[in-house]
Amino acid sequence: MADEGKTGTSEALTVPVALGERSYDIVIGKGVIEDAGRLIRASLPKSKACIITDSNVAAVHLGTLEKALRQVDITASAIVVPPGEASKSFDIFEQVIDQVIGGRYERGDVIVALGGGVVGDLSGFVAGVVRRGMRFVQIPTTLLAQVDSSVGGKTGINTRHGKNLVGVFHQPDLVLADTTVLDTLPERDFRAGYAEVVKYGLIDKADFFSWLETNWREVFAGGPARTEAIAVSCRSKAAIVARDEKETGDRALLNLGHTFGHAIEAAAGFSTKLVHGEGVAIGMVLAHDFSARLNQMSPDDADRVRAHLRAVGLPTRLSEVPGGVPDVHGFMELIAQDKKVQRGALTFILSRGIGQSFIAKDVPAEAVKSFLADELAKEFPG
Ligand code: GLY
Repeated sequence: MADEGKTGTSEALTVPVALGERSYDIVIGKGVIEDAGRLIRASLPKSKACIITDSNVAAVHLGTLEKALRQVDITASAIVVPPGEASKSFDIFEQVIDQVIGGRYERGDVIVALGGGVVGDLSGFVAGVVRRGMRFVQIPTTLLAQVDSSVGGKTGINTRHGKNLVGVFHQPDLVLADTTVLDTLPERDFRAGYAEVVKYGLIDKADFFSWLETNWREVFAGGPARTEAIAVSCRSKAAIVARDEKETGDRALLNLGHTFGHAIEAAAGFSTKLVHGEGVAIGMVLAHDFSARLNQMSPDDADRVRAHLRAVGLPTRLSEVPGGVPDVHGFMELIAQDKKVQRGALTFILSRGIGQSFIAKDVPAEAVKSFLADELAKEFPG
């Protein structure tokens, strides 16, 4: 079901992100990192490169990227940060910008993010603010980063008040999604990223959701089905970002499952007990069950969502959250930290059926509360 795209490397697909003068391409395919020098040179002819990566990714992929840059005479050096969410901090941010400025990189030079969402978000923020904005290339190495965080220009770090509270919109000049690197991902991480792939089917692509129900094993196995799923996801995100870059409207659809999901992640302490995609999987099931309860969609469609996520091995129930979840009051507190409750109402992403998500601006907090109370009673009887 892939659309035609211009070819970056042999058998690569190219998905354009149409944002006027900030437009860029996402090149998706096997071995794209090996061709990164040529691809970066083609879009940024005169730049030196400063690679930002983490120590886990550096051990496996940094050598390949450096070789690819050397082959086309791009001068490059690397900054290696510790792996994990803790690197999205003011401390690490300061250390990194110090090295970028100390390395005499100029505005026309390029920051290359080689890694998952943490590296991408941190690097994008560095690129967005050093010298009032440097060039930026994303080379995402997790499925989640390939289909979501590397596309669309959201960058940032965490503060003690919460995640992603300091940052800028800074679009990359190029995204290189090498599907081969996903072979080295732990299966749990791949599966968690897959939840975001399913999300695109649920937002507005019922055909894609059906295709995933049939073809998910091939997507997990690698090969053309995986490239296809990533391309469809990126095309879907590109279309949403193109019509609402700064999230004043439709881009909020990308938060499907994330209100419940963030509360669940927060309950698990934003730890590896429950990773982001797993929280989103449970959150998407709840969002669809909640939509059915509000008579917006048929319970059969909600069951289909749960069945597919469960089939691939993702958690779908509150009782599967390691360490348990709070009571209704605690849950509502966590939701309120994430969202403003205005005059007793919340904005939620709800659905009228598979692929028919919509932004509901006036969901009564009381309705959320009674839904959660019933879910909790069902999941934790007695
Ligand atoms: N990950 C949600 C967004 O990019 O808007």
